[in-house]
Amino acid sequence: MIKSSAAILTNANAPLFVDSIDVEGPAFGEVLVEMVATGICHTDLTAIKGVNTSCVYPAVLGHEGAGRVVEVGPGVKGLRVGDHVIPLYGPECGVCKMCLSKRTNLCWSIKSTRDRGLMPNGTARFRWRDAPLHHFMGTSTFSRYTVVPEIALALIRPDAPLDRVCLIGCGVTTGVGAALHDVRAGDNVVIFGLGGIGLNIIQGARIAGAKSITGIDLHCSKGTLARHLGLTHFIDAAAGPARVHEEVLALTGGGADVAFECTGNTAVMRQALDCCHVGWGTCVLLGVEPSGTEMAVAPVALRYGRTLKGSYFGGVKGRSGIGKFVDLYMEGLLDIDSLITHRLPLKDIQRGFDMMVSGESVRSVVHFE
Ligand code: CU
Repeated sequence: MIKSSAAILTNANAPLFVDSIDVEGPAFGEVLVEMVATGICHTDLTAIKGVNTSCVYPAVLGHEGAGRVVEVGPGVKGLRVGDHVIPLYGPECGVCKMCLSKRTNLCWSIKSTRDRGLMPNGTARFRWRDAPLHHFMGTSTFSRYTVVPEIALALIRPDAPLDRVCLIGCGVTTGVGAALHDVRAGDNVVIFGLGGIGLNIIQGARIAGAKSITGIDLHCSKGTLARHLGLTHFIDAAAGPARVHEEVLALTGGGADVAFECTGNTAVMRQALDCCHVGWGTCVLLGVEPSGTEMAVAPVALRYGRTLKGSYFGGVKGRSGIGKFVDLYMEGLLDIDSLITHRLPLKDIQRGFDMMVSGESVRSVVHFE
């Protein structure tokens, strides 16, 4: 057992409570990681709001971090003490049906325990006030020390700054990866919602060689940053769906080659599909809808050649695919620095969430050292 400082969520709708917790050493196939930095992301907020069914309280949240290996458990073959790693909420075991299919980046080999806040052997490594404390998304990066299965850790190059590439653990890869997956050179790209994911889709579309990148949002407050990242046109969503539709068709010469939806609003999802070019336009859903809601689709829209699809973690396999994004950052092709508007010590993590909700921040990064 070692002591660690961590942000604890005791119940839904409670403020995060920073306290000392006990962390047990790694069991078979597990690794003890010392976090250096972690981003604050909307998915953590869903757990705070009580609308994330895979959060079991009390829990240590956090899923967008980077750190160093301090101890490896028995059976760990691919990682050593001192290695730099990014924890993955989507593991890559390499041997399950999904990994072997080569058709998906999803690996559900440990999903059943992960979604109950436990390690693969069914127990927790965290204890607080003499009771078990749950993990979250299999990562729990809001703790100075966390335990993660080896199959959910990406080994990264040692020269990458951990307080920046931590964002590759979620937001950056989700957006940039999704764009690299579907955007081709010369495409007209449309993005509904310019939050953390939308801004990264802009970067991915730019890297992929898009001809135009149009953003649609209710707030143009992030306009300067969006243009810096590669946005070419902005449409104010307040103009109403009909006007937005007309403007998209005019700007794209008849419809988007690829439209990305990042709001989670099912009416906007429909709007994104409808603005895709007939014959080939692809609509990619990334926004998370309120659980249980459904989206209306006119089947003819698909019969006429449009594709409706979704994307999880940018379609990127975590352990084998993340290195490319770290390289893009190190080569100066991917901008992470501009996305980090605030840096905070762990004790101020609640303020990071408040700033995310108010829209004051793009990404806040919490530092452990
Ligand atoms: Cu996230």
